[in-house]
Amino acid sequence: MGLNSKNAKIVFASNNGHKLEEIRSLFPNFEILSLKDIGFDKEIIENGHSFEANARIKSESIFRFLHTFKEENPSYLILSDDSGICVEALNFAPGIHSARYSSQGTDKANLEKLLEELRDNPNRKAFFICVLCLILPNGTTHFFEGKIHGNLSEKVLGENGFGYDPIFVPLGGEKSFAQMSESEKNSLSHRGVAGKKCSEFLAQILS
Ligand code: IMP
Repeated sequence: MGLNSKNAKIVFASNNGHKLEEIRSLFPNFEILSLKDIGFDKEIIENGHSFEANARIKSESIFRFLHTFKEENPSYLILSDDSGICVEALNFAPGIHSARYSSQGTDKANLEKLLEELRDNPNRKAFFICVLCLILPNGTTHFFEGKIHGNLSEKVLGENGFGYDPIFVPLGGEKSFAQMSESEKNSLSHRGVAGKKCSEFLAQILS
C-alpha cells in the first residue's frame, strides 16, 4: 500500500511535551507518535552548529532506529523541531543553546538568566526561530523554517506555554506568548509558521 494521508503517521522526535502538544494541534489530520510510543529511550546528542544541523541529527537518529529495528513500519514520517530564541543585544544568544542556557537548564532558570543578562538594556529585540526536519520513508529530507520577531518584557507575563514564552511579546501585540491560548500562539509562532509550510508540503505529496 502506498503512502497516503490516511495511513501515514508522524513520529515526532522530541521529548519536550510542550512541543509535542503544539505539533499535535498543528497537524490535526495525522496521528502523532512520541519517542516513547516507538520505544526510543536513548539520549540524542545535539552537537550541530545550527538549528538545521541539530534538527537533522534528531530526525536521522530516529530514521536509523526505525529502519534498523522496525522495518515493518514503512509509512512512518519522521519530524523533528530544533528551535530557540535569539536576542539582538546579546549578539543573538542563546540561539541553539536556548534549552541549556543556564547551568540548571530548566525553563525557569534559563528565563531568569536571560532577564539578568539583559537587565535594563533598552534594546529588547529578539526573535524565535524553529526549523522542522521531515524525513520521508524513502529517506528524503526536507526542512521548513519559521521565525517570529518581538520584544522581551522586563517581567514575567502569563503562565501558559513553556520556555521563554512568559517574556516574549510578538511585534505589534501586547500579550506575551504565555498570555495566549495554544491556538493563538500557534497562529503566529515560529513553530506555527514552520508547521504550516510542512503541512502544505505533506498535502501536496500525499494522495
Ligand atoms: P531544543 O529542544 O533543543 O530545540 O531547544 C529549544 C529551546 O528553545 C526550548 O527548551 C526553549 O527554551 C526554547 N524555545 C523554543 N521554542 C520555544 C517556544 O515556542 N516558546 C518558548 N521557548 C521556546
